[in-house]
Amino acid sequence: MNAVEIEQAITSLANAAFDRENFPYDFLAAFGNKDTTLKRLRAGVSNKSDLGGVLQTNNIHIAVAPLGAVTTTLTALRASPATTRYKAKFILATDGETLEAEELDSGDTIACAYPDFPDHFGFFLPLAGISIIRQIRDNAFDIRATSRLNKLYVELLKDNPDWGAAERRPEMNHFMARLIFCFFAEDTDIFHSSGLFTATLEQMSARDASNTHAVISEIFRAMNTAIDQRSQASLPRWADIFPYVNGGLFSGSVAVPRFSRIARSYLLHIGQLDWTQINPDIFGSMIQAVADDEERGALGMHYTSVPNILKVLNPLFLDDLREKLEEAGDNKLKLLNLRKRLARIRVFDPACGSGNFLVIAYKQLREIEHAINERRDEKGYPSTIPLTNFRGIELRGFSAEIARLALIIAEYQCNVRYLGQREALAVFLPLSQDNWITCGNALRLDWLSICPPTGTGTKLQGDDLFAAPPEHTPIDFENEGGETYICGNPPYIGDKKQNESQKSDLRELFAHRCTQWKSLDYVSGWFMKACDYAQNTTSDSAFVSTNSICQGQQVSILWPLILDNGRFIKFAYPSFKWSNLASKNAGVTVSIVGLSSSSLSSRKIYIEEDSGDISSIECSNINAYLISGKNIEIKRSSKPISNLPTMTLGNVPYDGGNLLMSSNDLEVLGLSSEQRRRFIRRFYGSAEFIRGLERHCLWISDDDLKDALVVPSIATRIEGVRLMRLASTDAGTVAMAARPHQMREMNAGLEKTIVVPRVSSENRLFLPVGLVGNDSVIGDKNYAIYDGPLWSLSLLASRLHRTWIGVVCVRLRTDFSYGSTLGWNTFPVPTLTEKNKADLTRCAENILLAREAHFPATIADLYNPDTMPDNLRAAHDHNDEVLERIYLGRRFKNDTERLEKLFDLYTKMAVKQNKKTTSPAVD
Ligand SMILES: C[S@@+](CC[C@H](N)C(=O)[O-])C[C@H]1O[C@@H](n2cnc3c(N)ncnc32)[C@H](O)[C@@H]1O
Repeated sequence: MNAVEIEQAITSLANAAFDRENFPYDFLAAFGNKDTTLKRLRAGVSNKSDLGGVLQTNNIHIAVAPLGAVTTTLTALRASPATTRYKAKFILATDGETLEAEELDSGDTIACAYPDFPDHFGFFLPLAGISIIRQIRDNAFDIRATSRLNKLYVELLKDNPDWGAAERRPEMNHFMARLIFCFFAEDTDIFHSSGLFTATLEQMSARDASNTHAVISEIFRAMNTAIDQRSQASLPRWADIFPYVNGGLFSGSVAVPRFSRIARSYLLHIGQLDWTQINPDIFGSMIQAVADDEERGALGMHYTSVPNILKVLNPLFLDDLREKLEEAGDNKLKLLNLRKRLARIRVFDPACGSGNFLVIAYKQLREIEHAINERRDEKGYPSTIPLTNFRGIELRGFSAEIARLALIIAEYQCNVRYLGQREALAVFLPLSQDNWITCGNALRLDWLSICPPTGTGTKLQGDDLFAAPPEHTPIDFENEGGETYICGNPPYIGDKKQNESQKSDLRELFAHRCTQWKSLDYVSGWFMKACDYAQNTTSDSAFVSTNSICQGQQVSILWPLILDNGRFIKFAYPSFKWSNLASKNAGVTVSIVGLSSSSLSSRKIYIEEDSGDISSIECSNINAYLISGKNIEIKRSSKPISNLPTMTLGNVPYDGGNLLMSSNDLEVLGLSSEQRRRFIRRFYGSAEFIRGLERHCLWISDDDLKDALVVPSIATRIEGVRLMRLASTDAGTVAMAARPHQMREMNAGLEKTIVVPRVSSENRLFLPVGLVGNDSVIGDKNYAIYDGPLWSLSLLASRLHRTWIGVVCVRLRTDFSYGSTLGWNTFPVPTLTEKNKADLTRCAENILLAREAHFPATIADLYNPDTMPDNLRAAHDHNDEVLERIYLGRRFKNDTERLEKLFDLYTKMAVKQNKKTTSPAVD
């Protein structure tokens, strides 16, 4: 069941007469429990309650209480030994009049009248395995409204399939936006009389829904007719009482889809919600999924939390405004000038979705303006911040509509909050005609025409000079003409995932600037456009982005185009988890990059600690890897720049599945133990190495070939390789058909091999490197150091190396993709003394011994961050301690410090290396 279906089910349960006997089962059914599960609970087989209620293991303990005894019953549930033993996450007690529940982990509780428990729908969602973040969970209204609109949307499309077709979709979306506006307006007195829209629908539309569309259409027509034109419009009396709204929202066609009985009742249900509780930044994010066929039913998928949005907006411009507010103190003139500055700040989000960045920016500016007004003793002074200064571009029509609506609602709510309800109503209607959210492709549109530079404005007048000390002259702001801040969270989309149209957007933008543009993530387009925009007008910009544009090869493609063009990185969040909706999105790792061309800006790197605390460091430059230091490019190197052993790619089989074999295949070969010893080796690809899977391969030296061919099963396999290679169109592969008993390379350690998987999960705290003996062959899904010194394993297993790889190598989504020429050969290591090497060797041995102690656990088992054994953690910790002391004389404080040191060392070593000139390298 998805969240929408659950909302529907619990609403029906709450509306039905309370059934003491069946409530626990009906409640569990509403959260998607299957009949068989409920049957087992009813039969007592799986019911673990010790209080006569229903206890579902790992889930919930429910008890129906005697009338008036809900609180005591809940206390009993909390104290019940079964609740603990069977790990209930929730307890719930109800007597049919009130309902109380607690989430035991967090201690969060709810208590409400029984019919209202669906209002706490978000609280219970984890019962269906849906975890949502707190902000959404606590905004039951937004969830329920979205859920109901969702149902209405689906029902209308069912009845009006033509409205679902591409040509009419925009009309459908516009219709939904109009409805949302009406529901909001009727509950907030914008329609003068509370509940007017729903009440009119209920009265004027027939129960069989045959004229619902006509009634709505007349109401819309009224809202599009100015009061002075009403007499000629011949509106029915019941429609004429609706105010003139327009503002583009009700202009154009007043066509309305036809309603079935069900759709009509859904419509009335939506009207029964209390729309005053709408939270435009949450609601907008959720509602946009309604119009998306693939995402409908998923609530809050795109919700970006306010703290995350503020990570962009605060350093971009809000921090500065707050600082200026502090500096102004009670100086009325300074405050006035700041207010005038606010009125000319434009915030532009060229991938605005439902407008959440714009809404938050607007609300924040209003808060600052309010503080100014209070300090100037002008509480209630009308806002001078025009909503139209919050501009956006959005590709999807419905999201663009919602963005506009969300801003209108945000403005109204701010007016109520800071000016009062009456004042807010007085200025609300009619809506402004300006269309400040453009629906279109941001990479094709001219940003200057959507958000033109304002030019120089009037010099600020000290119009309350009498109130200010006479020596104060009007303040010149750096940008008299108004400031523009570009921000947002554009689509990331790696090069392999871009569709034809997105590729062509990037081609248009980049093909004349660089040759390797095809490797860029789609988000790069927004950085480039922001950079171009800033050629014509001063504007700072900041976007959330995948951190891959600041790693590996994309660094050298994108950033010179920006950093060599007068722009610099003003602030950055190098890397943090951007978790939207936990159940759907384990959290992409993102960066935030802020750009400026004003040399006055300070430069700051922000770091979010695991605790959620944010700290920052000021620095003189932030390079494209988002590290404090010189602008530098880590270049592939054909050999290590430090004194390190050679790392090579493992052996490439090119065997058509003939040289490699499973354990079963090996048995089928029917070899003697002597033949096994001579011709067979254990084979390690990355899955075999990390997950301990067993695979083998033929490994036949030229000297042994004659004896091997005597074994028919081996001869057949070798012939298979020969035929496969001969059939190739690649000349090199065909040439290899001459020695079909062998892989392309025949590299193996005489004693041991250090193994480095090419791709591995970034969730592990350490790279899953290790050691195999001389009876093993390493495949090309790994890199290998044959007979390398053990201290190099210590380097590879260190946090320092993992951090380096995370930044300099290309990432595959969230996985690490190791490259020897970019990751190992560039890794800067100080000169190691014999003592250092001996210490590091011991550290590597300790790590291996710690793993041994858990035999037969695999690397995947051992390095699961949630269950990593303590002794192994300790061995790694010691390894890091020893290595970091070699680099710094102490432990590094964090990864930022690690990277700064590594980049500094690299820069010095690269300078030396350049003098010797490096040869080009390929992985
Ligand atoms: C990651 S969402 C961010 C939206 C919003 N700021 C948020 O946090 O929910 C990216 C938005 O960019 C829009 N988009 C995608 N490609 C676009 C393009 N070429 N031009 C304009 N918008 C685009 C998508 O429809 C989506 O709404």
